[in-house]
Amino acid sequence: MSLQFQENISLKPYNSFGFDVSARYFALLDSIEQLADLREFMQHQAIPVLLIGGGSNLVLTADLDLLVVVNRIRGLHISDNPDGTVSVTAGGGEDWHQFVRWTLEQGAYGLENLSLIPGTVGAAPIQNIGAYGVEIKDRMLSLEAFDLETGEQVVFTSADCQFDYRDSIFKSRFPGRYLIIAVTFTLSREFTPVLHYGGISGQLADRGITSPEPLQFSDLICEVRNSKLPQPEQLGNAGSFFKNPVIPEDQAQQLKQVFPGMVVFADKPGYSKLAAGWLIDQLGWKGRTQGDAGVYEKQALVLVNHGNATGTDIVELAGAIQADVYKQYGVMLEIEPRCYP
Ligand code: EPU
Repeated sequence: MSLQFQENISLKPYNSFGFDVSARYFALLDSIEQLADLREFMQHQAIPVLLIGGGSNLVLTADLDLLVVVNRIRGLHISDNPDGTVSVTAGGGEDWHQFVRWTLEQGAYGLENLSLIPGTVGAAPIQNIGAYGVEIKDRMLSLEAFDLETGEQVVFTSADCQFDYRDSIFKSRFPGRYLIIAVTFTLSREFTPVLHYGGISGQLADRGITSPEPLQFSDLICEVRNSKLPQPEQLGNAGSFFKNPVIPEDQAQQLKQVFPGMVVFADKPGYSKLAAGWLIDQLGWKGRTQGDAGVYEKQALVLVNHGNATGTDIVELAGAIQADVYKQYGVMLEIEPRCYP
């Protein structure tokens, strides 16, 4: 079927904060064939496009004079490699968590720590999603993308994507240019869970589990996530609202002397990563609200919509937090989700 374009559509169901802003044009794209229709419409109307997946990393502050395209390209494929690894490919519009569960059911392991992350497969590489000691860059082989500028289909290897902490070439250099058609991962037939991230091995020990089954381990990750992070269906949010700041190691050491409880992790050589949640929490923000915009009561890094907050309310709250953190620690927090317009 050709791509259908609608006008003045509310984006409330398409962003995890639940902001009720509208898109001038809107389309749900579910096949590769429809990419030609998309290009034609863009050229004809001369209108910029905003590509979205699950809308779970998005702050919409006003109505958008744009064409919003939701990537719904599906498809799952699995094949064993001669070296004993397994290649798994998923359409960019597949739901991330459903996909992770499917890999585990197929006996393909490596994505279990990324269970329950909201969003789609195609959005996952854009910000190099990560949780509990694993990032997508550790497991991704390549992806296939559609270049909205040239109309060509292009393959990016993992190295081409220039992955970094919550960052990739799709975010830093080419925002909005590529629609991700499919992503391929190299997974393992052997289940060797990554347990080093704070709390995970402790949680297993508490339950008396010594060698977890893959789906059981994924369930545990879901439990840990649910205990700290709100599910967007229940409380609008976009996960961590700020990145954990990476600062020079000597600056971190000086801060640690003044604030001995500060949570500091080693990062690339010469740098340290601070837990932004700790910085915000220490300043008493956890659970605070400004109107319907709030800081989540169990995780200070997560901003939430208690009902009728707008994107602007959330951005204002974020600004107050950034100013407070900067005043106290001299560290500027960087907003993690994409903000539009
Ligand atoms: N902390 C506090 N108070 C808080 C929140 C955190 O003191 O309100 C402390 C914790 O006690 C812990 C440290 O800060 O010592 C780190 O907290 P946590 O383990 O919850 O992880 P995070 O750094 O806040 C990051 C990711 C999450 C990911 C978790 C687990 C970023 C921006 N966030 O959060 O990713 O799920 O680690 O791996 O890197 C996301 O990106 O949207 C996201 C949810």
